Amino acid sequence: LVLVVTSTFGNGDPPENGEEFNKKVFYKFKYRKEFAKNLYAMKVSGTAADIDDVTSSMHRSLSFMGMNSLTEGAGAPTTPQENGVVSSNIRGSITSDIMSEDNFGPLSNVRFAVFALGSSAYPNFCAFGKYVDNLLAELGGERLMKLTCGDELAGQEQAFKQWAAEVFNVGCETFCLDDDVAMKEATAALKTEASASADKIRLSPCTKTDDIALGLSRAHGKRVRSCQVLVSRNLHGEKASRWTQQVILSTDSINDLNYVPGDHVAILPANRQDLVDAVLARLDNCPDPDQPIQVLLLKEIHSLNGVSQTWEPHERLPSASVRELLTRYLDITTPPTSNFLHLLAEYAYDNDQRTRLDQLAMDPHEYEEWKHMRYPHLKEVLEEFPSVSLDAGLLLTHLPLLGPRFYSISSSPEAHLGEIHVTVAVVRYHTENGRGPLHYGVCSNFLKEVSPGDHVQLFVRSAPSFHMPRDPSVPVILVGPGTGVAPFRGFWHHRQHVLQHKKEKAGQMTLFFGCRTRALDLYAEEKEAMLRSCVLKHTYLALSREPSLPKTYVQDLLVEVGADVYRQVALEKGHFYVCGDCTMAECVYQKLKTIVQEHGCLSDQEVENFMLQMRDENRYHEDIFG
Ligand code: 2AM
Repeated sequence: LVLVVTSTFGNGDPPENGEEFNKKVFYKFKYRKEFAKNLYAMKVSGTAADIDDVTSSMHRSLSFMGMNSLTEGAGAPTTPQENGVVSSNIRGSITSDIMSEDNFGPLSNVRFAVFALGSSAYPNFCAFGKYVDNLLAELGGERLMKLTCGDELAGQEQAFKQWAAEVFNVGCETFCLDDDVAMKEATAALKTEASASADKIRLSPCTKTDDIALGLSRAHGKRVRSCQVLVSRNLHGEKASRWTQQVILSTDSINDLNYVPGDHVAILPANRQDLVDAVLARLDNCPDPDQPIQVLLLKEIHSLNGVSQTWEPHERLPSASVRELLTRYLDITTPPTSNFLHLLAEYAYDNDQRTRLDQLAMDPHEYEEWKHMRYPHLKEVLEEFPSVSLDAGLLLTHLPLLGPRFYSISSSPEAHLGEIHVTVAVVRYHTENGRGPLHYGVCSNFLKEVSPGDHVQLFVRSAPSFHMPRDPSVPVILVGPGTGVAPFRGFWHHRQHVLQHKKEKAGQMTLFFGCRTRALDLYAEEKEAMLRSCVLKHTYLALSREPSLPKTYVQDLLVEVGADVYRQVALEKGHFYVCGDCTMAECVYQKLKTIVQEHGCLSDQEVENFMLQMRDENRYHEDIFG
C-alpha cells in the first residue's frame, strides 16, 4: 500500500504542509500491524512545468523503495528519512516484485492513493499530484481512491482530514480488516460539503457513443479489453438451486493479455436493467435515456487576471447514453455514502424526509445501522424518499464509478491456450437478516446471465505473492474451500502441462477442499483424473453439512494428517497456499501453527518465528476475500 502526498514547487503551497500531512497519514495507518508491514507513505514534490523533474523525483522515490528493502531486508523497520520520505519496512516480496521484470506493470501488486497539495490561484492546479497519480496507475498500480486535491485557498486541512479518514477506511476494506474505529472515524469526517449545483453540469447531446472498452479504460485508468464468452455454465448442473458459475472467455484475438496461475482477472460488470429503469424513472431534466450525450462541467479558471469559465468534458465519463452510463459506468447498488445522502436531502421536498436524510448523513451510528440492516441500493433509497427530485446531471456526476470485481483465474495459460476461466459463486441474499427483499451480487449475477457470443470487458491483475513455487520439486499444499479452489484449478492444470510437455520432476501436490455436501463438490471428475495421472498426490474433501457425517472443515482434515503436513512444510520446505474467506484463512493459519508446534515440539516463541519465517521465505501464500 503506497500513500503519496504531493506538492508542487513554486505554486504557492508551503512544502512543510506536505511533510506534516504525510506523517499524520502514516501514523494513522501504522498502529495496525497488518498495515505496518506493507505500508509505504511518502511525500514527493516537483515542479508543475518541468515533467522531467517530476519523473526523476518519482523515480528517485521508487528506487528508494527498492533500496530500502534490498539493503535493510525484511523485518527491519526503517526510521523517517531526511529527504522527506517516511517509510515503514516493506515486505521483501513487495519490493523485489517492484524491481522484477516479470510483472505486467512494475507496480502491479501495489495499491495507492494520492493527496495533492496546490493552490487554485495558480494555473495548473495540482498538476504534479495529477501527474504522480497517473504515473502510478500507468506503472500498473491499483488506485485505492481517486486523486484528492487540497486547495491552499479553500479548505486544504479539511480536505486532508477527510481523505486521511477515507483512505484508512478503504484500506481496511481492501485488505479485509474489519475496523469499527476506522469506520466511525471515517464517517465522522464525512461531514459533507456536498452542495453542488445542477447549473454547472450540462448533458450535451452528441452523435456517437464511445467504444465500451475504450470508455471503461479511460474511466478506470486501466487498459480494458473485450473478450468473447465461450461457455457459461453452472458447475452444479443446470437444474441445481445453487450456482457456481464457470465462465470461459476467449482471449484469442488479444496477444498481450498475459497471466500466470494465481493471477486475478478484473471483470467490469453491468447493472441489472430493472434497477437502471427504476432510477431512470426518477430523474428530472433527463434527456432521452437512449440518446448519446457528453457530460460537461463548468470549470472556473483562476488566474492572476481574474476568473474565467469554460465547459469541459467530464474526465471519467465517456460519450454514452444515460442508460449506458447507469448500466456500465456508475455504481447504483452500493449503499450511498453519507455525503450522497446529504445531497439527496437538499433535493427532498418533504420536510420529514429531508430531516431523516440529514440525520442519516450526519449521525454515523444511525447511518451504520440503516446501511447494515437494509444494505439499500439506489432504487430502494429513492423509494424510501419519494419526494427527492433528482437532477440527471447531478446524479451522474455524484455517483461513484462501477468498480471492477476481481476473481482468481482458474485456468492455466499453457493448458488453456487463448482462454481465461473463472469460477464464481453467484451471490443472492435477502437483506434485513433474511426478512428483507432479495438482492443480487452485481458481477456474479451478470456472469450467470452471459451467453456464448456475448462480450465481457476485463483486465488482468498480477498477484505475484500467489504464484506457484519457482522450484517445481518442492511440495505444495493447497487449501481452498468453496470457490477458494478457483486458482488451484489453474495450478493443477499448469502442473499437468509441465509434467507432460517438459518432463520435469515435480514435488507432491495436495489439495484440501471443503463444501457443504457431496453434491456441491467442485471439479470432482477433473480432480479424479489429476489423481490418476499423479498430478495431485492426495485430495481431501471436508463436508460440513452432509447428513449422517460429522461437520468437517478443511482445517480439521489438516490436523488429521498433521504429521504429513509438518513433514512437507517444515522438513521439506514446501509451500502452503490458502484461498477463500478471511475467517477460514485465519482458522487455517492457527491450525497450521498448532500442527507445526506439536509435531516439531516447538515453544510458543519458536512457532511464532517459524510462521513468520515461512512468510518471509515466501512459502506461506494467502489470497483472501471478505
Ligand atoms: P458451512 O457453510 O457449513 O459453515 C465452503 O463455503 C465451505 O467452507 C463450506 O463447507 C463452509 O461450511 C465452510 N466454512 C465456513 N466457515 C469456515 C471456516 N471458518 N473454516 C473452514 N471452513 C469454513
